[in-house]
Amino acid sequence: MTLKNRIESTISQAVRRGQSGAVPPRLAAALEYAVTPGGARIRPTICLSVALACGDDRPALSNAAAASLELIHCASLVHDDLPCFDDAATRRGKPSVHRAFSESLAVLTGDSLIVMGFDLLARAAGTGGDADGTSGAVRAVELIRILGACTGMPGGICAGQGWESETTIDLSAYHRAKTGALFVAATRMGAVAAGQDGEPWEELGARIGEAYQVADDLRDALFDAKTLGKPVGQDDLHGRPNAVSQMGVQGATQRLKDILGGAIASIPACEGEAMLAEMVRRTAEELTPMAVRPRS
Ligand code: IPE
Ligand code: IPE
Ligand code: MG
Repeated sequence: MTLKNRIESTISQAVRRGQSGAVPPRLAAALEYAVTPGGARIRPTICLSVALACGDDRPALSNAAAASLELIHCASLVHDDLPCFDDAATRRGKPSVHRAFSESLAVLTGDSLIVMGFDLLARAAGTGGDADGTSGAVRAVELIRILGACTGMPGGICAGQGWESETTIDLSAYHRAKTGALFVAATRMGAVAAGQDGEPWEELGARIGEAYQVADDLRDALFDAKTLGKPVGQDDLHGRPNAVSQMGVQGATQRLKDILGGAIASIPACEGEAMLAEMVRRTAEELTPMAVRPRS
């Protein structure tokens, strides 16, 4: 099965489980709307790539790890688009969840997807482990811990979004929590799902996350809403510090390349080292905003 198929089928199974039985139909529909069709699915792709590079001896656990990250990411987008945050009318080329359903259903959709991510890992604890399920369970507990760290306080997405309510922003803590944390979780969780220590993978995740933030700032400054499928010019509109306002387009593009070069250099020695370097190079190409038509 391709990485894409592994990710999509695990996400859709989780969503279907959330829709089964006597459930409120509109919330059930909103869950699916929020996760499909997906965006780049970059976080679960990184997670599975690292798991493969580490041997991927418990594929069901790796799939759950990857899909749980994407569920948290999708939840963060649903909440981020709400009027009390960015008030965005579109996401992934269609009306944002609160525009298509309602604000209260968007809050509940985000909440449900977050819980679904943790539930998915808990359910995967017994899959594919030893006869008594012990090793799968030990890995799953560590995966749940990492997912919690990248989601809440003090260093997860909640912390990142929380900085936007402060008058003085600690820029590096803001970016690390808002964007970096999920990328660090992606590399760490890939390793842990495959039975390896997650710590040596932290730097790779941090560097990819930093590059992704710079790329997102460039796209926000350079592209049109149609190309991105979401509102643009948001950083300036909300007065947020960003790489383009700090370094200009050329400076930010160069910074992006430098960070990705560092990311490749930071890949820990493992059987899939060359495959991972190739994955980072491909990500770099996809992220380089000049490859897409800038808005005129
Ligand atoms: C957008 O993330 C929000 C950021 C943290 C930069 P993505 O660019 O990964 O969004 P999708 O999942 O592809 O839509
Ligand atoms: C997206 O952040 C949501 C989170 C990371 C929590 P942004 O507001 O920077 O990204 P877009 O432009 O909405 O995708
Ligand atoms: Mg936003």
